[in-house]
Amino acid sequence: MIKRIDPWKPQDIEDYDRLIRQFGIQGFKKLVKSVPDPHLLMRRGIVFGHRDFGRILDAAKKKSSFVMMTGLMPSGKFHLGHKALAEQFIFYQGLGAELFICVADIEAYNMRRKPLDELRKVAIEEYLLNYIALGLKPKNVDFYFQSERSHDARKANAFYRLIGMVTRRTTFNEMRDIYGELSPGKIMSVMNQVADILHPQLPEFGGPRPVVVPVGVDQDPHIRLTRDIASRMKEFRFVPPASTYHEFLPGLKGHKMSSSDPYSYIALDDPPGTVREKIMKHAFSGGRGSLKEHRLRGGNPEVDVAFKILLYGMEPDDRKLKRIEEDYRSGALLTGELKQITIERLNAFLEKHRARREKARSQVDRFLKG
Ligand code: TRP
Repeated sequence: MIKRIDPWKPQDIEDYDRLIRQFGIQGFKKLVKSVPDPHLLMRRGIVFGHRDFGRILDAAKKKSSFVMMTGLMPSGKFHLGHKALAEQFIFYQGLGAELFICVADIEAYNMRRKPLDELRKVAIEEYLLNYIALGLKPKNVDFYFQSERSHDARKANAFYRLIGMVTRRTTFNEMRDIYGELSPGKIMSVMNQVADILHPQLPEFGGPRPVVVPVGVDQDPHIRLTRDIASRMKEFRFVPPASTYHEFLPGLKGHKMSSSDPYSYIALDDPPGTVREKIMKHAFSGGRGSLKEHRLRGGNPEVDVAFKILLYGMEPDDRKLKRIEEDYRSGALLTGELKQITIERLNAFLEKHRARREKARSQVDRFLKG
């Protein structure tokens, strides 16, 4: 059992069901059928949990306005794990949501000790460009930096004012309970993130309305605190923000992806040869030690990273995926053959994506006007 979730030092999570029970997260499965045309990551159980998502479903059904708000730490290469989050917010854009996307450059400056100009460059060159290539449209998107909220002073003031104000609605003890050991950088990052999540509901940004925050479960401590602070702020009538949680695509070696280890992820600009090498040599396999044993006992797709990559979307057809899974489990499909399928799908996707990314360049400025 993990005592607390540390958002700055993500752990490998072994048992998502247990995590759900421990922290009072709701299971997402029961809701999937109520989601209009649910995204593949929802259908396949990768989005596994939520808080208060019913509000979002109501709004989507009634076609009343709602917001999708999330943030990113601009650290290094844009990889398949980042793609899973991007697809979700593009999905909400399709549902009619207004999007607020925050570049957490102040958090990265303090917690990762990177210079702001480098963070800005990575946010645009790696993240924004890939978002656009994946289908993000400029309409109803507010893409902003924590270090530079808006050129409209009225909006910027409202945002930074809120960062200053939320602090009054928590205590050092409460924060220590949630986060364990604190530092000024952590406290600042938390206050900033609470304001990131709540500010779309300020009058300057559209007023109270439902907000959904899709995140990895490592961010749940922030969500819990934000929801509590929202209800304690008497000055505003914030709707408590909803959230969804997705499982992390494991790193190639089976553990967490890490931007400091290129052999732990597939980047969206990896050339075909690199993809082949990474999958062939480094992807953790659920296959058996020998051919004979594999044919006899079959492989284990649950821990197989090549399979997971297909599951996360490289094989979009549910029926085909099921077939691959069954063949692998029965031993009919070998590890090398499974990896070959994954390499082919990945390289076909990445080739198209490369072209879309080049076209995306001309659109970048339309996202940087705020
Ligand atoms: N802390 C988040 C991360 O590490 C980034 C973030 C900043 C964020 N503000 C946010 C996420 C608001 C969701 C909502 O990735």
